[in-house]
Amino acid sequence: MGRTGHGPDGNFGVSHRPVLLTETVHQLALQEGGTYLDGTTGEGGHSEAILQSEPPVKAVLAIDRDPRSLEAAQSRLAGFGGRFLPAPGNYADMAGLAAERGITGVDGVLLDLGFSSRQIESPGYGMSFQIDGPLDMRYDPLGDLTAEEIVNTYDERELGQLIRRYGEEPRGMSIARAIIKGRPVATTGQLASIIGAVLGRRPGQRINPATKTFQALRIAVNDELSNVERGLDAAVGLLVPGGRLVVISYHSLEDRTVKVFFNREAATCVCPPSLPVCVCGQTPRLKIINRRVIKPSSEEVQSNPRSRSAKLRAVQRI
Ligand SMILES: C[S@@+](CC[C@H](N)C(=O)[O-])C[C@H]1O[C@@H](n2cnc3c(N)ncnc32)[C@H](O)[C@@H]1O
Repeated sequence: MGRTGHGPDGNFGVSHRPVLLTETVHQLALQEGGTYLDGTTGEGGHSEAILQSEPPVKAVLAIDRDPRSLEAAQSRLAGFGGRFLPAPGNYADMAGLAAERGITGVDGVLLDLGFSSRQIESPGYGMSFQIDGPLDMRYDPLGDLTAEEIVNTYDERELGQLIRRYGEEPRGMSIARAIIKGRPVATTGQLASIIGAVLGRRPGQRINPATKTFQALRIAVNDELSNVERGLDAAVGLLVPGGRLVVISYHSLEDRTVKVFFNREAATCVCPPSLPVCVCGQTPRLKIINRRVIKPSSEEVQSNPRSRSAKLRAVQRI
């Protein structure tokens, strides 16, 4: 993971290495003169590869909820002029963001879910348990819920269930109890040490014990799973027939959401198995391109360890 030093506000200088770059471009099956939508532009690594492809595509509509990342992408990709179309916003609202720019259909959509290295490594975002920062975790600095609010105001049951559900953390209830005892909790470092005191760390354990709780809070703050569902549906609505949708996910909750959606939209019948004949009249909207998920090569994982959990799924609009 590239890291080139922080600027005065701690948000600049961290660069994100795009994951599964060659595989993504390949699965998008780019068409000459096509219009593509990058729903999670970040610093623009994937957008850049799409814009550099030959024969050239027409344009990339580049969405991100984090205006700080999108600005970085904009200056990086300024050389592509009007072919790079930045659109700050939530990818779940992609239909409206596209329509505002006169786009009613696209030839491909990419969703590279989650957070970037820039976000996790910049203390101002409050996403890291390794670098102390304010308990924020919002991609969108104007978003109305912060991790600080959740940690300091939810009751024990709500907090414990959230950590169990979104972090898949079996000790969620014990962690919630300790957080409530330790209130007020203002920084990521303070939260990480409360979690560490509950879970301890086995000798040789590679994964920080706070990982799951931090994941849970980030998902809740940014309403990530419902955005994934809404975003997938919006993408299918926007794709032209034959257009591709490529999704890269980084944890099992995201990947399961994507898999269930793709299977449902690709099914020819959704009747209960007990019915002797089909009565649902389901018309599939998608064809699954890769039944087996595509994962990074061992070389990629070695050179960019943060890619290790990535799973890519691709579908085609019928
Ligand atoms: C893994 S990074 C993308 C990195 C990018 N592909 C690149 O190569 O630089 C995920 C990005 O998605 C953005 N994001 C997360 N949820 C979003 C949402 N609901 N709508 C738009 N962007 C979102 C984050 O702000 C982050 O920049």
